[in-house]
Amino acid sequence: MDQKDLFERAYKEIGQIFKPSPSLVDFYLNRVKKYIEFVPDKKVKVLEVGSGLGSLFQDEFLIEEERNYLSILGVDFSFSAISEAEKRWNNLLNRNKSILKKIDIKFLMRNILDKFKYDEPYDLIIDSHCLHCLNGIHEQKKALNNMVSSLKPGGILAIEMMIYHKKISFSHPYYFDRNTSKLFKEDCWGSLIPYRTIPKSLVVENMILDEELKIEYFTIMSNQRMIPESNREIVKEGDPQCLRIICRKT
Ligand SMILES: C[S@@+](CC[C@H](N)C(=O)[O-])C[C@H]1O[C@@H](n2cnc3c(N)ncnc32)[C@H](O)[C@@H]1O
Repeated sequence: MDQKDLFERAYKEIGQIFKPSPSLVDFYLNRVKKYIEFVPDKKVKVLEVGSGLGSLFQDEFLIEEERNYLSILGVDFSFSAISEAEKRWNNLLNRNKSILKKIDIKFLMRNILDKFKYDEPYDLIIDSHCLHCLNGIHEQKKALNNMVSSLKPGGILAIEMMIYHKKISFSHPYYFDRNTSKLFKEDCWGSLIPYRTIPKSLVVENMILDEELKIEYFTIMSNQRMIPESNREIVKEGDPQCLRIICRKT
């Protein structure tokens, strides 16, 4: 079993509720939006990476607040997630077609580690909590490079991800390797499956600078933790911290 199987298995569980992440919605509305260049009568092309069961742009309040037309492509490597996301988006449209006056969303099964082919580069790429799900720093660098090459000059890359802090701690069946920044999950046969990669903020900063991106905003949300397990809701002090980055392709 690998990381992809873990996601497929989780997404196959019947009745999973989809709700856009409140934290990502807040990040977009209160930070990211300010850095995007909106041109009247022109669609803003958005790529959402790791969209899961649906796009964060499906949030009702976000749609209500949006004054520009967003054309979104949500990508995810999980077949189950993409087919569910398409179903849920079509159901939403059946209930309220007027959404299409502000926003259109398409979903595509795609691995972020593969080079993207696109007709036109994106104005905004938002990492929808995918980067910390990759297996190791080298995969994070590769994904970052792919995202940057899909961005138009002047375009914005926004990332919200888990990062390391001194008090980070995990309990069974999770094991954190401080040397590689990898978090593993033990499966029922005792095998360790790569689960998350939680680097130090300095490592992430260097990754961004290596891509020659201009950092517009780089903040550790010191009082906000990110819960790595999908089945827990109560936050612990030992959970990873939350890093928000907004950078521009020069
Ligand atoms: C933590 S979930 C976040 C889902 C959703 N954005 C949300 O906020 O609820 C991370 C998503 O990234 C996807 N993912 C992980 N690795 C990926 C990869 N290499 N390429 C594309 N998608 C990937 C997973 O299938 C999963 O849907």
